Amino acid sequence: MELKNRIVMAPMTRSRSPGGTPNDEVVGYYTRRAAANVGLILSEGTLTRRRGAGDDPNVPLFWGEGPLGGWKRVIDSVHEAGGKMGPQLWHLGMARRPNQGHFPDAPSDGPSGLTLKGKKVAEEPSEAEVLDMAQAYADAAADAKRLGFDCIELHGAHAYLIDQFFWEQTNQRTDRFGGSIERRAEFAAETIRRCRAAIGDLPMIIRISQWKSVDYGAKVARTPEELERWVRVLVDAGVDIVHCSQRRIEEPEFPDVDGPKGLNLAGWVKKLSGLPTISVGSVGLTSEFTGAFQGEGSKAGKLDAVLERLDRGEFDLVAVGRALLQDPEWVRKVEERRFDELRNYDAQALQSYF
Ligand SMILES: Cc1cc2nc3c(=O)[nH]c(=O)nc-3n(C[C@H](O)[C@H](O)[C@H](O)COP(=O)(O)O)c2cc1C
Repeated sequence: MELKNRIVMAPMTRSRSPGGTPNDEVVGYYTRRAAANVGLILSEGTLTRRRGAGDDPNVPLFWGEGPLGGWKRVIDSVHEAGGKMGPQLWHLGMARRPNQGHFPDAPSDGPSGLTLKGKKVAEEPSEAEVLDMAQAYADAAADAKRLGFDCIELHGAHAYLIDQFFWEQTNQRTDRFGGSIERRAEFAAETIRRCRAAIGDLPMIIRISQWKSVDYGAKVARTPEELERWVRVLVDAGVDIVHCSQRRIEEPEFPDVDGPKGLNLAGWVKKLSGLPTISVGSVGLTSEFTGAFQGEGSKAGKLDAVLERLDRGEFDLVAVGRALLQDPEWVRKVEERRFDELRNYDAQALQSYF
């Protein structure tokens, strides 16, 4: 996959697709970023066909005639504007608010029927059900390829379904999907293998994170050795790129090992896996993103720290979230060194369109 530059638009849920179908506004939103030179656009999280995958009827689906027709218009328009794009395939698992979404009555899926706080609220699903959860991503991946998308991203971060398998607190299975770090990565591996069978050599990204929405200090891998065992499973299953989600890109992952200016998560994953990685987190802004949901803005900041790491080859691509949500022209302004025109992030950007 050849890209115009190393900037990726981070996946950002917008809840602007009533009934699950991306409409004209959504087509325009992505096309504006493509036309202004974003190297690779990752879509907002879009839901797999498992009925309990989501909890918001305005979040797009990635299955069914209507929604896929909407996505076809998005990708055709992005291509016309000279962009490249992949959908982020999403299943909330037990992070879902029950009784809400496109199918309020559907049960929520999860590795062990545990909430993110570890409370048992449902039976553990059978192996056949787990395999269907994996196949649902692969079915969406096949549709992404058929519609002409340039890659796919599996959302394996932030304590959603795939991450619930990675994380000990939500995965207490005793079959091949639970136990050691390798076994907790087996659901992702099964999903990756099924997606690979569905899309051939189309590039496949998986997004992972140590942090969880309910616990910013959580760690799936406590040491580089554990991280190596975790990503090895993903590499062997056939993923091409690892997207390492951090809230602040400059934070070292294992400062005890390589100091306060040491490698960040994307740096470590690249070093240990040999795969290209995407890094992310507060690029061009002075504060991290979770405050955005409580109406917090953020000031435009310097790019020196990220450029230094990029120049060292620590990671290959840099994802930008809020700065691109605020300003479709962000990449063009940076390319043309119009730094004084970069805008502060205003939480109103979430409401105003687009
Ligand atoms: C409004 C909003 C929605 C988001 N939705 C998603 C999502 O659907 N999937 C995902 O993996 N991350 C999501 N994120 C996280 C972003 O992809 C990104 O990692 C985060 O905003 C940090 O980048 P930034 O500091 O450049 O904004 C969201 C962030 C924001 C602000």
